[in-house]
Amino acid sequence: MTQGIPIISPDLIARIHALCEGEDDSIAIMATVSTELFHAVNGYDWVGFYRVVAPNLLKIGPYQGGHGCLAIPFDRGVCGAAARHKTIQLVDDVDRFEGHIACSSSTKSELVIPCFNQAGSLLGVLDIDSDQPNFFKWQDADQLDQMLRQLFQNASP
Ligand code: SME
Repeated sequence: MTQGIPIISPDLIARIHALCEGEDDSIAIMATVSTELFHAVNGYDWVGFYRVVAPNLLKIGPYQGGHGCLAIPFDRGVCGAAARHKTIQLVDDVDRFEGHIACSSSTKSELVIPCFNQAGSLLGVLDIDSDQPNFFKWQDADQLDQMLRQLFQNASP
């Protein structure tokens, strides 16, 4: 376990920015981010987006990994909490998060980051699951948050 040591490399962030340069279609960005993160980081078991499709409702977007549940209301799960509070949710142990939605029994920890455009509209959330407990670091969460704000700045809800 590398508790405290960030695992997202500057190269990975730079590659994602390069691939998405000039793109303002949120699905295209989500698809690119999902595949890049999933294949680059050992320990990311599931990487994907849930999109805001109606007031208080998230629906599955582009993802990599086993199947994810299709709809998540804002009042359910870690993704719902991130959307409802518009804050990053870093969960070291999903069994201790009340209301966690277990799409896969192998998920032990997860990180969910809300995605906004420049106008501050919530477009969806990035959900990353790991089969290892305590996998996520705040440094990585902050870096991903910064990257997502830049990538989605011109995307429409
Ligand atoms: N982790 C989520 C559910 C979605 S799946 O894990 C893909 C949650 O509790 O919000």
